[in-house]
Amino acid sequence: MARVLLGITGGIAAYKAAELARLLVKAGHEVTPILTPEAETFIAAKTFEALARREAPRELYPHLVHADLLAVAPLSANTLAKLAHGLADNVLTQTVLAFDGPVLAAPAMNPRMWAHRATRENVAKLRERGIVLVGPDEGELAEGEWGVGRMSEPEEIFARVEAVLARRDQLAGRRVLVSAGGTREPLDAVRFLGNRSSGRMGVALAEEARLRGAEVTLVAANLSVPPPGRVELVPAPTAAELEREVLARADADVVVMAAAVADYRPAEPSAEKRPKHAEPWVVTLEPTSDVLAQLGAKRWHGQVLVGFAADRGETGLARAREKLAAKKSDLIVFNDVSREDIGFDASENEVVLVTATGERRIPKAPKERIATEILDEVVKLVTK
Ligand code: CTP
Repeated sequence: MARVLLGITGGIAAYKAAELARLLVKAGHEVTPILTPEAETFIAAKTFEALARREAPRELYPHLVHADLLAVAPLSANTLAKLAHGLADNVLTQTVLAFDGPVLAAPAMNPRMWAHRATRENVAKLRERGIVLVGPDEGELAEGEWGVGRMSEPEEIFARVEAVLARRDQLAGRRVLVSAGGTREPLDAVRFLGNRSSGRMGVALAEEARLRGAEVTLVAANLSVPPPGRVELVPAPTAAELEREVLARADADVVVMAAAVADYRPAEPSAEKRPKHAEPWVVTLEPTSDVLAQLGAKRWHGQVLVGFAADRGETGLARAREKLAAKKSDLIVFNDVSREDIGFDASENEVVLVTATGERRIPKAPKERIATEILDEVVKLVTK
């Protein structure tokens, strides 16, 4: 049982928050609904008061600040902007400002509003402060438009709330190092060889580790998503820099190598920009050194090492099993790159967790959910 504050802002998705309130109450939590004045133009406070069997507060009370978790669903573009700038003009925005526990938010808005630079900047601010965003999802919106902006389903938000509550202190006192993104290997002063990794999986893992109480370092190679808040961020754009930064912190209790590290780099990158010629440009690629294998070679007793294997189909899965032993790792997360709908540069993933004791297939889910499953496995390995 936990004390959950449920913030509801104005938007057509507000009606879906009633289902979220019902799921939370059914799970035994004490739910306090907090509606913004705009939310009340979409749905009555009475609906939530009946579901939660408690009144929506009209003022900021001390007990609001001592709850276990605050979830805002839906989070409108307007309240998102207010939160980004620390406004406190109603009970909900006041509560968010006064509360220092875990905050989850499920944005819902028109796809163009979601894509606007102002919203992007506000979202990045919230993430930096450690607010966990659930969604928004892609789909048809109330106005009949298609795009990213639809609030995640109540079941999905509920699952994330439960995950945060259940796992609060599991990694307290542990140092977790996560590498994320894709390295870029210079060809000349302006060109590089890179890969399609967005860093989303690694960022989700770093965020999840932090939510479980770990002290987290994120070694980041060219992220195309905003980094999470309250983690130490170490930029490492190339394989060589990533190797240096990770190995310098090889004493971490857990190392998760989610980064797509280049296996080869141009042997002789030019310091100048290469001018255009009529003849072909022949580039020799030299192998980089394998960071995970190096960690495996000098691992210490009790340390947990996690690697990823991006490969194709069943033969790829067999190679992932081999990688577990070859890189002396405790867990290899296999994802099938022959599929376009998951993995690289996608918001969802479907993976197989390969350990020495067995395998577990995780069905297709948002990367944040996959991160929860991976960290569940890590917690088991840490406390073994
Ligand atoms: N890795 C690493 N250092 C490298 C390359 C990869 O630490 N120079 C890590 C990645 O972060 C990932 C795992 O090793 O955790 C992936 O292993 P890799 O052997 O590169 O596998 P794939 O790229 O999936 O496949 P392949 O063996 O075909 O290269």
